[in-house]
Amino acid sequence: QATSIPADRVPDMAKRELMNWLLLGAISLPTAGMLIPYTSFFVPPGSGGEGEGTVAKDALGNDVIAAEWLKTHGPGDRTLTQGLKGDPTYLVVENDRTLATFGINAVCTHLGCVVPWNSAENKFICPCHGSQYNNQGRVVRGPAPLSLALAHADIDDGKVLFVPWVETDFRTGEAPWWA
Ligand code: FES
Repeated sequence: QATSIPADRVPDMAKRELMNWLLLGAISLPTAGMLIPYTSFFVPPGSGGEGEGTVAKDALGNDVIAAEWLKTHGPGDRTLTQGLKGDPTYLVVENDRTLATFGINAVCTHLGCVVPWNSAENKFICPCHGSQYNNQGRVVRGPAPLSLALAHADIDDGKVLFVPWVETDFRTGEAPWWA
């Protein structure tokens, strides 16, 4: 009888699907296990988590003290610090020798290389595929599709505090793609 065929096939199909899930689980579980320590390695303990922000850290891992920073970093300076989620983030010194109220995330929006500052060109120029960003991190040449992400750079108790930027991107007038 023709009607008995689908009834026989249903359990087989379900079994096959189960096998597929088991196989997938066997492959992806160890991968997930490897990702967790990898991620937490780059996220220092006590780096916020409640959304109130992260104190910027210098290359030696020390908290960035705004007044000290300005003694050694002149107008126009863009130097990498460790920012939100451990992301490399530029601290910007304005021409009037104050700290800019925004930090620039250095992760290229193309494929994620860290983009160096080129003071001679007054741009950030990615060494990987040549994307360029102006001195505020706005993309001016591809292949990068988007501008570099922003973070607020506040001063809290003398220290530089990065706070997530969820407002309009002042460089483009658009909603922030990273929020
Ligand atoms: Fe920066 Fe490709 S990763 S241009």
